[in-house]
Amino acid sequence: MIYLDYAATTPMSDEALRIYNETAKTFFGNTSSLHDIGSSAARLLEICRKELAKLIHSDENGIYFTSGGTESNILAIRSLIQAHRHKGNHLITTTTEHASLYHLFQQLEAEGYDVTYLPVDSSGIISLKDLEEAITPQTILASIHHANSEIGTIQPIREIGQILRQYKVLFHSDCVQTFGKIHVDVEDMMIDSLSISSHKIYGPKGLGAVYIRPSIKWKPCLPGTTHESGFRPGTVNVPGIASFITAAQQICTNLPNEHARLAQLRQYFIRFIHKNQLPITIEGHPENVLPNIIGLSVHGVDGQYTMLECNRHGIAISTGSACQVGKQAPSRTMIAIGKNKEEAKQFVRISLGKWTTTNDIETVISVLKNICNQFS
Ligand SMILES: Cc1ncc(COP(=O)(O)O)c(C=O)c1O
Repeated sequence: MIYLDYAATTPMSDEALRIYNETAKTFFGNTSSLHDIGSSAARLLEICRKELAKLIHSDENGIYFTSGGTESNILAIRSLIQAHRHKGNHLITTTTEHASLYHLFQQLEAEGYDVTYLPVDSSGIISLKDLEEAITPQTILASIHHANSEIGTIQPIREIGQILRQYKVLFHSDCVQTFGKIHVDVEDMMIDSLSISSHKIYGPKGLGAVYIRPSIKWKPCLPGTTHESGFRPGTVNVPGIASFITAAQQICTNLPNEHARLAQLRQYFIRFIHKNQLPITIEGHPENVLPNIIGLSVHGVDGQYTMLECNRHGIAISTGSACQVGKQAPSRTMIAIGKNKEEAKQFVRISLGKWTTTNDIETVISVLKNICNQFS
């Protein structure tokens, strides 16, 4: 099978697996235990925290390990807004956030918060003017993703950070799709809080991290929590974290080369579609886009059909964010960029990764060409 669904999840790298295996045997202690076995696990945990901090150019005291991107988003935002509730009741987000954030903001609205959902243009980018106009003296926090998981569009994150800092609004960014794929640097990006996930970067599933600038106050979601400085309850998965950090180091070291390689494969695909005038629209921003994500619509063909045809030919692609699959509703991102329901249902996502070759791209092109011919 040709796997072209790396944005949904990735297989673990050999090195991450090896480290998991070794540390699960030798650093199995509970980091809260006072004996030497506990202390050595706690020491390894602190090394991992330091290493991750280096990769995102942050202070290690702001790193908290979690069970993944979803939990990172929820805990970061809830912990921050609880501590800053005195400021007001207003929150800002976008119409194209991942389901984990969309559902959280819907819940926060039900709890009485006032939420502004910023629209995006046809390429998936928010307007800085809209952002500035949405801010009120009661705005506590804005949550704006670094890049969209379906069409790969990258937001002008530094400019967003500058505006939010100027108005003293806390800035959380979901960096789950960008960490390890493009440069993530909390100082450059002017963000106060971010979330990342291990299974998108060849690490184990069920692991992630949050960074919150240490000078910013937050309040534990569950009072009485002791692990992770009170940020997240439960015994810390040290072997999983060591494996996650190994994967993170590997992907960040290879980032420039892999970025160039994947961007070339992506361009190869797009050039072919355009040159052969296939009835396919490539979605997302033409330049500010992740190198590994190709969001597209095959005109007049249901995305579900395209995905199943690819599957029948041994290619794994997706009809959108894995967290939306199974829901009858068309992709929120597609609707947000201005498609109608019918058009939105035509969407599929091809996502590239470490083992993607030119041959794989040629194979998926030929299957897509057949689908287009069937419907022409
Ligand atoms: C942008 C984004 N945020 C959050 C998540 C959730 O991450 P996890 O699967 O680790 O909970 C995903 C996963 O698809 C994602 O793409």
